Amino acid sequence: MLVSSWDEVYQREIGTFQEIADEGEVWFGEDVLEKMVEWALENAPPAPTAPYVLDIGTGNGVTLFGLAEAGYPPDRLCGVDYSDRSVELAQAIAEHREVPEITFKQCDILFNVPTPLESMGDDEGWDLILDKGTFDAVSLGQYEELEEPASRLYPVKVGALLKEGGLLLITSCNFTEHEIRNLFETTASGLQFHSRVNHRSFSFGGQTGTVVSTTAFVKSTASPSS
Ligand SMILES: C[S@@+](CC[C@H](N)C(=O)[O-])C[C@H]1O[C@@H](n2cnc3c(N)ncnc32)[C@H](O)[C@@H]1O
Repeated sequence: MLVSSWDEVYQREIGTFQEIADEGEVWFGEDVLEKMVEWALENAPPAPTAPYVLDIGTGNGVTLFGLAEAGYPPDRLCGVDYSDRSVELAQAIAEHREVPEITFKQCDILFNVPTPLESMGDDEGWDLILDKGTFDAVSLGQYEELEEPASRLYPVKVGALLKEGGLLLITSCNFTEHEIRNLFETTASGLQFHSRVNHRSFSFGGQTGTVVSTTAFVKSTASPSS
């Protein structure tokens, strides 16, 4: 049964992948993907100790494949998505790319906690969490069973998954950096602003802006110094 419009998207993409080995959409384009990978290489490098990386709303897994290509050990990479079809697609692509060690599994991040990888300690959190377009999708979703808006709950859920000192890198096309910071930098999430990735800007009607924002946060339960 198809449970969401994302299932329909990935069902189509599975068909295309099987037919012509097209891996599907690179959400926000190659340039944004490259910048996220570059940021990861600088701030959570694969050596000397490779980070455990969780990609939330992994889609076709493109962000994790980017990290694997950049030298991150695939057995420390995990992608979750609430769409079974996304998981099926990402796994098929991983086989095709010969990185079957990357873990992909189904998980609705608002209602479930993704199980840690086998080599992680049970109470250890993730070192790095990636979100490319997922918070945008989550914020637009209708969740009648939630008592608070998904855009308020999501940062708390994500913050709880990170280990102390762990990093979140999030790219959005619906929220400015200012808005993202307002939603994510809360006591409940334990997240504090870390850095940003600069994207090409455009000018329109006397205003300058960017099409997407990429913002990084660090998990710190200590109170901010300023
Ligand atoms: C805009 S797509 C981005 C996909 C991928 N990150 C990429 O860059 O190509 C948003 C993704 O979030 C997933 N998603 C939406 N709500 C979710 C939730 N509550 N839990 C887990 N995944 C979710 C969708 O299935 C979809 O794959």
